[in-house]
Amino acid sequence: MASFPEQRLRRLRQTEGLRRLFSETGLHVSDLIYPLFIVPGRNVKSGIESMPGTFRFSSDLVIKEADEILNLGIPAVILFGLPEFKDEIGSSAYSPKGVVQQAVRKLKKSIPELIVITDVCLCQYTDHGHCGTVKDGRVDNDTTLDLLAKTAISHAEAGADIVAPSDMMDGRVGVIRKTLDAIGLYNTIIMSYSAKYASAFYGPFREAAESAPQFGDRRSYQMNPANAREALREIEQDIAEGADVVMVKPALAYLDVIRRARDIFNHPLAAYSVSGEYAMIKAAAKEGWLDERQAVLEMLSAVKRAGADLIVSYHAKEAACWLKRE
Ligand code: PBG
Repeated sequence: MASFPEQRLRRLRQTEGLRRLFSETGLHVSDLIYPLFIVPGRNVKSGIESMPGTFRFSSDLVIKEADEILNLGIPAVILFGLPEFKDEIGSSAYSPKGVVQQAVRKLKKSIPELIVITDVCLCQYTDHGHCGTVKDGRVDNDTTLDLLAKTAISHAEAGADIVAPSDMMDGRVGVIRKTLDAIGLYNTIIMSYSAKYASAFYGPFREAAESAPQFGDRRSYQMNPANAREALREIEQDIAEGADVVMVKPALAYLDVIRRARDIFNHPLAAYSVSGEYAMIKAAAKEGWLDERQAVLEMLSAVKRAGADLIVSYHAKEAACWLKRE
């Protein structure tokens, strides 16, 4: 075994060419998914304060944005809706005329090559802001399942390629798969937010999507940040129920969970780099406290290195530009 001075690890790092040649992890624009917030109305493009550089779009204007996204080489978008009205049972979530359903139809008609993923959840649509129905002050699992399945079906019928349940109810993947199959939508892909933690890093998203819970918190359904073995059980369960793609969320504070999931399961693995991760980098970059380009590419590469195949990120558009020039 050679050691110093025969062995010199710096030999492989001497030039940019060598560093590229010996890079262990590839970050590609084709790994990225860009989130889009859809609002009712026409001609709306409004900035989101806590997430500089991101916007809410009405479904007419989202076409131009999506065109730009695809032209940057990003293969997929994930849609979140801000409905016209909220009620106790989140009925705007599964209305065929809902904001997301309309946007999906328009997107698939004008840009069929763009992969359209929809977030399947009730929290933006319920007046109490929880991800399920509320019974006696608690979020009720089993009565929620039917509503989630209805939501997923309405997205799939509008043309969504992938439905992504993010509610963390038990059994939702199985119910969604069965319901889709029963009406012949067996080609619709399910990407499950399998290991979704009750995280402080969703703060800016809740401002963007107006989806903060009006009482209590989400800790009875989203996972305890202290748990990693439980995440593997969640993923195992979703795979057993028919998930095609599984996800860990957030990304940066859960790289160990991503790695463990990668080592155990063979399903495609996505990681969601959430709103708070984006906001932290944007805020520090604005102050001049770090180099944004370097920080973003380092962070996204770390998520790939940990074992994710796909990354949902609000940095996707900028990252795509930077990766083109790499
Ligand atoms: C809906 C949902 C949330 C996010 C994605 N889907 C919010 C939440 O669970 O409170 C968070 C995304 C982000 O922070 O970027 N359930």
